[in-house]
Amino acid sequence: MSEQQLVPLCLISDVTEDLPVKAEIKGEEVAVFQVGEHYYVTQNLCTHGPGELAEGFVDGDEVECPFHQGKFSIITGKPTAAPCTVALRTWDALARDGQVYASTTPRSGGGEAA
Ligand code: FES
Repeated sequence: MSEQQLVPLCLISDVTEDLPVKAEIKGEEVAVFQVGEHYYVTQNLCTHGPGELAEGFVDGDEVECPFHQGKFSIITGKPTAAPCTVALRTWDALARDGQVYASTTPRSGGGEAA
């Protein structure tokens, strides 16, 4: 990722492994997750309906949508439990100087293989 492609999303201290944070990339809501020492960014809106994944329940590297309890891999964005069938879009994330950044363009998702 070059410097010009990075968007600041939130402070590292805002995110914990249990509590993702809602942020924005170019007007699109995203969810920022911490899994171990790494940070991951997915679209905030569930691909199945109106659930917001930043409000979801995090279990390891999966997030459970609060609306119908479908699940996604936080790392790949792929659905891991019904009723979700379409992958989330994901962005490359980078933690530096106390802040989490993401690339401006999605890495994957929208039904593509991650
Ligand atoms: S809206 Fe997320 S599982 Fe239905």
